[in-house]
Formats: sequence, C-alpha cells, structure tokens
Amino acid sequence: MQLLLTYIPLAIGQLAIASAAQSSSISSPVTATATQSVLSEATSALAAAKSNSPTSSNGITSVFQYLFGSIDTLGAVIAKATAQAEEQFLKLVDPELFYSYGGSPPVYPTPDGAGLGEWESAYKQARAVVANMTTDEKAGILYGALDAKGCSGFTGSVSRLGFPGICLNDAESGVRSGELVNGYPAQLHIGASWNRSLALERAQHVGREFKSKGINVLLGPVIGPVGRVAKGGRNWEGFSNDPYLAGELTGPTVAGIQESVIACAKHIIAYEQETNRMPFLAGFIGLFNQSVSSNLDDRTMHELYLWPWYDAVKAGVGSVMCSYNRINNSYACQNSKVLNGYLKTELGFQGFVVSDWYGQHTGTASANSGLDMAMPSSRYWGLFQLSTAVSNGSVNATRLDDMATRILSSWYRFAQFDNPGMSNYASVDARDPASESILFQGAVEGHVLVKNTNNALPLNKLKSLSVFGYDADGGMNTSASDSTLYGFGLANAPEYTNGKSFSGIDMLFYMGALVADGNYGPDVALNGTAKTGGGSGAITPANSTSPYDALLQQAAQDNTILYHDFSSFNPQVNETDACLVFINALSSESWDRSTLADNYSDTLILNVASKCNNTIVVIHNAGIRLVDRWIEHENVTAVIFAHLPGQESGNSLTEVLYGRQSPSGRLPYTVAKSEEDYGTLLNPTLPNSDHFFYSQSNFTEGLNIDYKYFIQADVTPRFAFGYGLTYSNFTYSDLNVAKNSTADTSSLPPDALAPDRVSPEGGLASLYDVIVTVEATVTNTGGVAAAEVAQLYVGIPNSGLPKALRGFDKQLIQPGESTTASFQLRRRDLSTWDTVQQQWVLTRGNYTVMVGKSVLDIQLNGTLVLE
Ligand SMILES: *[C@@H]1O[C@H](CO)[C@@H](O)[C@H](O)[C@H]1NC(C)=O
Ligand SMILES: *[C@@H]1O[C@H](CO)[C@@H](O)[C@H](O)[C@H]1NC(C)=O
Ligand SMILES: *[C@@H]1O[C@H](CO)[C@@H](O)[C@H](O)[C@H]1NC(C)=O
Ligand SMILES: *[C@@H]1O[C@H](CO)[C@@H](O)[C@H](O)[C@H]1NC(C)=O
Ligand SMILES: *[C@@H]1O[C@H](CO)[C@@H](O)[C@H](O)[C@H]1NC(C)=O
Ligand SMILES: *[C@@H]1O[C@H](CO)[C@@H](O)[C@H](O)[C@H]1NC(C)=O
Ligand SMILES: *[C@@H]1O[C@H](CO)[C@@H](O)[C@H](O)[C@H]1NC(C)=O
Ligand SMILES: *[C@@H]1O[C@H](CO)[C@@H](O)[C@H](O)[C@H]1NC(C)=O
Ligand SMILES: *[C@@H]1O[C@H](CO)[C@@H](O)[C@H](O)[C@H]1NC(C)=O
Ligand SMILES: *[C@@H]1O[C@H](CO)[C@@H](O)[C@H](O)[C@H]1NC(C)=O
Ligand SMILES: *[C@@H]1O[C@H](CO)[C@@H](O)[C@H](O)[C@H]1NC(C)=O
Repeated sequence: MQLLLTYIPLAIGQLAIASAAQSSSISSPVTATATQSVLSEATSALAAAKSNSPTSSNGITSVFQYLFGSIDTLGAVIAKATAQAEEQFLKLVDPELFYSYGGSPPVYPTPDGAGLGEWESAYKQARAVVANMTTDEKAGILYGALDAKGCSGFTGSVSRLGFPGICLNDAESGVRSGELVNGYPAQLHIGASWNRSLALERAQHVGREFKSKGINVLLGPVIGPVGRVAKGGRNWEGFSNDPYLAGELTGPTVAGIQESVIACAKHIIAYEQETNRMPFLAGFIGLFNQSVSSNLDDRTMHELYLWPWYDAVKAGVGSVMCSYNRINNSYACQNSKVLNGYLKTELGFQGFVVSDWYGQHTGTASANSGLDMAMPSSRYWGLFQLSTAVSNGSVNATRLDDMATRILSSWYRFAQFDNPGMSNYASVDARDPASESILFQGAVEGHVLVKNTNNALPLNKLKSLSVFGYDADGGMNTSASDSTLYGFGLANAPEYTNGKSFSGIDMLFYMGALVADGNYGPDVALNGTAKTGGGSGAITPANSTSPYDALLQQAAQDNTILYHDFSSFNPQVNETDACLVFINALSSESWDRSTLADNYSDTLILNVASKCNNTIVVIHNAGIRLVDRWIEHENVTAVIFAHLPGQESGNSLTEVLYGRQSPSGRLPYTVAKSEEDYGTLLNPTLPNSDHFFYSQSNFTEGLNIDYKYFIQADVTPRFAFGYGLTYSNFTYSDLNVAKNSTADTSSLPPDALAPDRVSPEGGLASLYDVIVTVEATVTNTGGVAAAEVAQLYVGIPNSGLPKALRGFDKQLIQPGESTTASFQLRRRDLSTWDTVQQQWVLTRGNYTVMVGKSVLDIQLNGTLVLE
C-alpha cells in the first residue's frame, strides 16, 4: 500500500511535468519549430495571394479570391495549429498511438503450422479434432479458464471431444508452489557448470515431477533475458550472458523436459530489464507508463538475442512465451515481426505461443500477429470473443484453426493425459529417489572457485572452524509466516539491510507493476541462505540442507570444534583453523537490483577478515556479485561463487570445500572490478523527458554485451567470462584445426530460402552442418582429479568481434593424464547475419581459432582459412 501511495503522487507529478512541458510548447524546441513552420507557410501563402492581387479587369473577383483565400489560409493555420495541439494532447494522454507503431516491420499472415517431421502424427490428430470443433469451442481453448485447478494457468476444455484442457505451471527448476516436490539448481547454476549432459539429466527429472503433479506445460527454460543489463533482476533465471553457452544448454533442457511434458521457452524477446517491463497495473487502466521498448537492429537480433531460440526450436520446443516488453515499440505479444517472422517463419516453430501473464494488450491484433494462447485469462479473447472476430472477418477462420491446431498438436505430442491440474495431485509425492544424484551433482558443478591462496582449500580434518554470516543457515525457513513471500522464493528476505520490512503485499505490488521507478526489493536474503532467486522462477522444495546443516555433519565426522555466529555484523572471532563467511546476493523477478555489491555484506566480510587470517568467503549469488572491496585482502584466502544450488545447497558445498570433488564450475558472466566498468550496461533504462511513460531502451552497443563489451572497451575485469579454478592444474597442447573435406562451404547456406518461406524447425538444416573440427590435448599436471572446461573462441573475419565463444568441452581428467578436447564448428558458428540478403553468411578469409581456460586466458592460437 505504502508503495502505491508513493507511486500515485509521483505519477501525477510526472503527468503534471509532462503537461507543463507541453503547454509551454513554444519553449519546447520541437513544437516551436513546428509552429514557426506553420506560420511561415501561412505568411508566404498570404504573400503569394497578395502578389496575385487586383491588376486585371476581373478586379472584383480577385478581391473576393484574395479575401476568401486569406480566410481559408487563416482557417488552415488554425486547423493545423489545432491539429498540432491535438497531437500534443494525444501524445500526452495516449502516446501509444505515436510511439508504438511503425517501428517494427509488419509480417502477415501467420504461417500455419505445417506439422512436418516428428510433429506429423500429432498434427494429424489435432487437425481431426479441430475439424470437429465449433467456432466457440476453438475460441474457448485459447485462454485461461476461471478455475485454474491449482496451476499458474489452465485453458478451456472440450470434454465432448476428449480434450480436458492444459495446465501450465512455474517454474523452470522445480514445481513452484507444489507440495512434496524437489528444488533443483537454478539455470544460472547450470550455466556455471558448463555441462550439457547435466543439463539434460536435470531437465528429465524436473519434467517427470511436473507430470506427476498433473502439469502439461513447464514454464521454462528461460532464454531471455540474455543478461544485457548487469543489474537485470531475472538474469539468474537464464543460463548465461553468452548466447552460445545459453543455447548449448537450452537444447538438452528442452529435450529433457519434453520426455514428460511440454517445455515453454521464454520470453521472446529482448526482455532485458524488469524496470517498466509491463504497463502500470499490467495495463488494466490505460494510464501512466507503458512497457519499455527494446530497440535493436536486425543483426544484433540474430547473432545475440535470437541465437538460443534457434536451439530451443531445433530441439522441438512445444511452446514459447512472448515477453512483457515491446520490441522496436511493438508489444512482444502482438509483434508480427517477432512471432510471425522470426519465430514461425525463419525458425519454423511448430508449437504455440502463449502470452506472459497479462502480457496481451490487444485482441485481433495479437491473434493476427501470431499469439496462440492468452494467460492466465483474457480481456480480449475471453467469452469466446474470437468467434465474433472470425464471424466479422477481423480474424481469418484459418488463423483460429491454426491456433487451436498448434495447441492441440503440442498436447498430443508431449503431454496428453487425463485429469490434468495440480489440485488433482496435491497429495502425490513427486520426489523420486532416483533424482537425488542429479539434484546433488547439479548443485556441485555450479560452484565456481575464484580465489585460493595459502592452500586454503580444500579443507582437511580441521581442529576448529568458525562459521559466520546470515547466509549460512536457514534451510527451508518454513518458519516464514508470510506465505506470499514463500511462494515467490523470498521467505528469507523479510527485511532490507537497513531494517525496513519487506512483505508479501509489497511483492504483489512489484509483480503488479504498481511501484514507482527507483524502488527495489531487498538485495540480500538476510534471514537465511539463498538457494533460489525470487519471483515466478522460484523453487519451493519440501526439504533442503543449508550450508550449516552440512558443516555440522562434516564436523561431527571430523571431530571439528564448530563455532558459529550468523547474526552479528561484527562478530567476535575465536582462534580457529579457518573462518567461513556466508553472504548472498538476491535477485528477483519484478525489480532490477540496486547494487552488485551491498555494503552490509562487504563490511561483514571485512570485519571477519580483520580478525581471522584464513577467511573463506562463500557467496550465494543470483547474478553478478562484485568482490573488489575485499578480494585482495591478505586474510581472504579463498572465494567461491556458490550461485543458487537448490535444495542440495549444503551437501554440495561441503563436497567442494572438503575436496571430495574439485570445483568444476566456470563463470557464465564477467565479474568487473567496479559497477562503472559495465558502462551503459549496468542499469536498466528509465523513462526520460522525451518519453515520460514510454521508456526507450536503445541497444546501441549491438553485440557487445558482457565479455564482448569489456574487450571492445578495453576494460580489464576482475574475473573474466569462463574463469574458474580447480584443485589441480592443466596444460594445453597440440591444437588441430581440421576442415571437413566433404562439407559444403559455400558462402550462402546451400538450402537458403526466400525470406518469406517457412524454414524447417530450428532454421535451415545446413546451419547445423559441421564444417570444422578443432581438437586440443589437455593434460592434468596437478595432484588430483579435476574437471577442466576447455573453451573455444572464434574470431570471424570482419565481424567486429575478436572473440565469440563457439565451443566448450568439460572432462574429468585424472592426475598425470591427458585427454583430447574436441569442438565441432557448425555453419552457424562461423556465420554472421547479412541484413541485406537476410541470410546467415560464411565469410571468406582467415578466422582466428583460440582455445583456452577463459576468454582472457587463451592457451592455443590457430587459424582457419575459408576461401
Ligand atoms: C469427428 O466427427 C466425426 C463425425 O461425427 C466422427 O466420425 C469422428 O470420429 C470425429 N473425429 C474426432 C477426432 O473427434
Ligand atoms: C484466410 O486465409 C486463407 C488461407 O491462408 C487465405 O486463402 C484467405 O485469402 C484468407 N482470407 C482472408 C479474408 O484474408
Ligand atoms: C530469521 O528471522 C527470525 C525472526 O526474526 C529469527 O528468529 C531467526 O533467527 C532468523 N534466522 C536467521 C537464519 O537469520
Ligand atoms: C531432509 O533432508 C535431510 C538431509 O538430507 C534428511 O536428513 C531429512 O530426513 C530430510 N527430511 C525429510 C522430511 O525428508
Ligand atoms: C568463542 O568461544 C567461546 C568459548 O568457547 C564461545 O562461548 C563463543 O560462542 C565463541 N564465539 C563464536 C563467535 O563462536
Ligand atoms: C589478518 O588477521 C590477523 C589475525 O589472524 C590480524 O591480526 C591482522 O590484522 C589481519 N590483517 C588485516 C590486514 O586485517
Ligand atoms: C594465522 O594466525 C595463526 C594464529 O592465529 C597463526 O598460527 C598462523 O601462522 C597464521 N597464518 C598465517 C598464514 O599468517
Ligand atoms: C533512442 O532512440 C530514439 C530513436 O532514435 C531516440 O528518439 C531516443 O532519444 C533514444 N533514446 C535514448 C535514451 O537515447
Ligand atoms: C562432414 O560434413 C558432412 C556433410 O555435411 C557430414 O555428413 C559429416 O558428418 C561431417 N563430418 C564430421 C566429422 O562432422
Ligand atoms: C599449479 O601451478 C602453479 C604454478 O605453476 C603452482 O604454484 C601450483 O602449486 C600448482 N597447483 C597444483 C594444485 O598443482
Ligand atoms: C590469411 O592468412 C594467410 C597465411 O596463412 C595469408 O597469406 C593471407 O594473406 C591471409 N588473408 C587475409 C585476408 O588476411
């Protein structure tokens, strides 16, 4: 409530400022120029008329002509001026009319799902049922029903024809709000694992839990945001800030989920900030701000934001969620270029597009632009309104058929079962003991060791150990009285570091876009460990271990004296072999982070380090966390980015701390030395005086986000993308770059289609042809077994990008042993998007091929020549 009260005066204030600026329009340069031009136009018209004045015999007529002409001209002046005033007024009260249209190219009509390949039999079944449906039946399954059966959303049904409706539910890393379910590591954590098979196995297990809870559609994986904005609130929900790494983990994740239920890749597209992500009050009243517009060019769209969508569609994803933001000023869920163009034509997507919750803002326009389902209900399509739209010709009947067919085909192919709905399965225990090993190993591999001096780690049978910090304890924190916060994964964040409280009501205000810019939720989960981020991507597992739970167990085993103090800001430190300090960096849907390094936690670390010469820092970080206030402190001997491990947080941490497994994670993003080092990519875009309620986020950096930005700006980060230590050492040798002698290396894809022709699923087949294989020998020269993540970066000639990740190979290597790291470069990996030809093009020339331990630690250099 408090937040709403601060919003309204602010919004009225904004409106007042806007009107003041507009009414004193003469002082506004744009309006002044316009008014001047009307006046000068009028003056010259009058002058022209006067110069034609009575000279001839027809004097009287001429006088009348002059008079009437003058009056007309004056009238035109008035009309034009009024039109201008009217335009200014409309810009103020309904600016959508001016800014929303024309920026994004129109692409119509929506291609009908072709139902080829593995979709064939599902499409056949769906078409047969759709053929038997009435118009109202078709129109009734496209939006959420009032009774959601315990799901995040539930479609209409047609029981007459055996279609019971579809249950859609959060979240990507576990059944959110379900009882008796597991909580898996977050996608960012899996991104840090750089492990494709781990991603697959995790997704298989998550998918099975959804099915046993009566859910047809798992709302994930997240492949947008990509992570353009360092403080972006949802970056932790995606795998990585690099599109290649994200894409490589997306394919197996979609495949794993769809062994049981329909995956929903989200959010398409260029959804890179939470600030003003949706209109005020989700657009229920047409006042105040509209969604931020992500303005970007076609090449950036293809090589960065659209990149992982190729992988999702190639893997056969059954549904896609359109995002809250606008793209080149047109709302994602009614953006025909995005949905009809990129997704359904260029990528050949065969499934259905569902709106993000309350992300639909028009009826016929969204249907014609390619939206197939509106959730969780629809003002525009509800009460069978599309039947009317079809009968009056606003929407083609074939479009309605296609919408219904796409939905039913996905259902037939991946998730046809009776009696869907979570409320029907509330008492079912979805946890399968067979999932324990992947819950654990997934959690282990996302830990990234970034500092380790004086052999601080691994720990070994300590005599004594001190544990500090609010993040060490808390586990489930089922004591949380605020069930709303619990459902959003924020049970451990009931207050800010300054003591101000944060409640479930506050969270609902944030989710409903009722909070003014400049407000943020908590940056830290002060009341216990962070194992998940916040919002609709949160997990709600039935059980979990905290770091302290696991350390207690380890201490009992080793006979270690364990001291602890979780609450003191400046704890008393007893002399012990080591001091562990646990902090976290929280991030949630619905706000962007206010800082990448909160003062409270940094000071806590410094307080401990000033008294303990073996201070080991563990950070549960939902996104980038800076460390420069203390990283070079002589007493800080080791630092681990522990990300968001899910329910096995504690057990996976001791596995790594005590060296049962060497750390094997690598950073899936760049850690800078200071916030300023992220430049314009640090903060979300805010409205400015030209666009009071219509923020314009211009992606002028193009492809240069994260490490590409740091390389271009020549800024040295604290920890480079791809960086991470192990308990061993590796050397690299014998780089071999081998062209596939039978591969077609024509500049254009051999199967190139005209841009308006529908591609096969995932884009042209030839984009996936392997053109080059790169190999290198990696040797473990250290004393223990450890996994090395060999990384391949490519410099495509004339691309403007000196280094782009195009391969990685993670292998466990025994001490003294060598393995061959192998990377396959496909046509798409070596191509750039040609905006004129509208095709992926293989450039002729010399490509640089770099293999190394991180983007800034290249061990082997080679060249690939394409002639
Ligand atoms: C469609 O209706 C026809 C005629 O009533 C019936 O024979 C057929 O089985 C129905 N097909 C489906 C898929 O419901
Ligand atoms: C409706 O779609 C069909 C098939 O795509 C097309 O042939 C027809 O011309 C369309 N009708 C209208 C009114 O657009
Ligand atoms: C969480 O908050 C409760 C109530 O304020 C407090 O009793 C408890 O110690 C806190 N837990 C942690 C882990 O800080
Ligand atoms: C929760 O997990 C802990 C540690 O793994 C285990 O000891 C305990 O039995 C579990 N509790 C339940 C209710 O499953
Ligand atoms: C330090 O040791 C004393 C005595 O054993 C104990 O009472 C106290 O709790 C310890 N302090 C911390 C922070 O563990
Ligand atoms: C490091 O820790 C020792 C205690 O072990 C303390 O005396 C020293 O002042 C600390 N160093 C710094 C720079 O704080
Ligand atoms: C750390 O301090 C302890 C005493 O508190 C001392 O025994 C040890 O040698 C110190 N270690 C280093 C690396 O200075
Ligand atoms: C973004 O670009 C548009 C169109 O070029 C321009 O009007 C606007 O001022 C730019 N916004 C910012 C914040 O640079
Ligand atoms: C080489 O290219 C051909 C033709 O695309 C393909 O069939 C074959 O699998 C490729 N070889 C390798 C090693 O990838
Ligand atoms: C790794 O190599 C460095 C430098 O050669 C050496 O100081 C360190 O002891 C080695 N570490 C291990 C675990 O072998
Ligand atoms: C490519 O490299 C070769 C040597 O390997 C060199 O002769 C040639 O000039 C280079 N081509 C370009 C375009 O740089």
